[in-house]
Amino acid sequence: MRVLVIGSGAREHALLLALSRDPKVTGLIVAPGNAGTARLAEQHDVDITSGDDVIALARKVEADLVVIGPEVPLVLGVADALRAAGIVCFGPGKDAARIEGSKAFAKEVMAAVGVRTASSEIVDNPAHLDAALDHFGPAAGDPAWVVKDDSLAAGKGVVVTPEREVARAHAAGLLDAGHPVLLESFLDGPEVSLFCVVDGATVVPLLPAQDFKRVGDGDVGPNTGGMGAYAPLPWLTDTAYREIVTGIVEPVAAELVRRGNAFNGLLYAGLAITSNGPAVVEFNCRFGDPETQAVLALLESPLGQLLHAAGSGKLAEFDELRWRDGAAVTVVLAAENYPGFPRVGDVISGSEADGVLHAGTARREDGAIVSSGGRVLSVVGTGDDLTAARTRAYEILDSIRLPGGHFRTDIALRAAEEQLSR
Ligand code: GLY
Repeated sequence: MRVLVIGSGAREHALLLALSRDPKVTGLIVAPGNAGTARLAEQHDVDITSGDDVIALARKVEADLVVIGPEVPLVLGVADALRAAGIVCFGPGKDAARIEGSKAFAKEVMAAVGVRTASSEIVDNPAHLDAALDHFGPAAGDPAWVVKDDSLAAGKGVVVTPEREVARAHAAGLLDAGHPVLLESFLDGPEVSLFCVVDGATVVPLLPAQDFKRVGDGDVGPNTGGMGAYAPLPWLTDTAYREIVTGIVEPVAAELVRRGNAFNGLLYAGLAITSNGPAVVEFNCRFGDPETQAVLALLESPLGQLLHAAGSGKLAEFDELRWRDGAAVTVVLAAENYPGFPRVGDVISGSEADGVLHAGTARREDGAIVSSGGRVLSVVGTGDDLTAARTRAYEILDSIRLPGGHFRTDIALRAAEEQLSR
């Protein structure tokens, strides 16, 4: 089977690595890729938002399966275009991808099946902002305001703050830029990312993971696209896990089928485990980054065959998933200034070691690997438990040099020290 992966991040690098372990995968192609994925797959340039261009590439490289990594092409309907052209694709069509692309749609689907989620209000008129702020945050008895960009923002449009002026300034900035703002009630409790391979009403969960969104140790500083992750979650109870699968993801998948928007791809449930049980923070329509890097490091089942089964409507026939024992931890190495405007063009050394996945990297004409984005590398350590996996990840990071680069030192620390529960 020849597999074309669309995207250029560490998530796509992790997908390619896991696909390369599938004995039935005979060819790997990536577009557009990065300096790390070029070592695993044939690399092509493509406009990932154009269905016609992706179809032309899939035909040229004789792909048997196309896996779409990022949300933007999914929300724009690239998966629909591929399917209409008779090409097997893993990724939801435009209507189902609204579960991520339109927070109002996601809330409507969740309300229809009684899934617990934050209460929310959309503000699209600056004149209504102050009144809406009064309904949330400390003004309404919550510890903080949660202010989101109600459009695709790669995880960076969220501000969670106990300070009204900070919340107001973020919301006003989004409104000035023409983006509607979503205000939400605060969901307290540790977060869980559960990725599920979905084919209509058939739901196959992967290992639960947790990611770290703030830039600094101890969860301080601004939100990022994700600074690290680990899997599995030793502290998550079976009861909470079953409630997520059978009480949240399965009913949502069934509701999408009922509405004629059947989901085919990766449904990512982002949850908070509150004192009243799991509640949905958001749904995404694709693999999450950086959790994918940790989750797929532990997958033993053949990923190409799994995604092909889902993409061709045969997921229900696929064998139960197999996982290796132990744990995986991924730590993101980010460029100077990230999540602000990152400095790029710095030479990176040590990035070709095992366990290093590339995101914002490019190969210069002289052969040097240089940074080309905010999140530069994702380093993955595995081991018998979280402590061993953390040790391995940080050992690998120690051997890498990126001027101005920074990373969090506390990824998975509280879980390894058994400080989390629920
Ligand atoms: N892990 C956050 C995201 O992928 O959106």
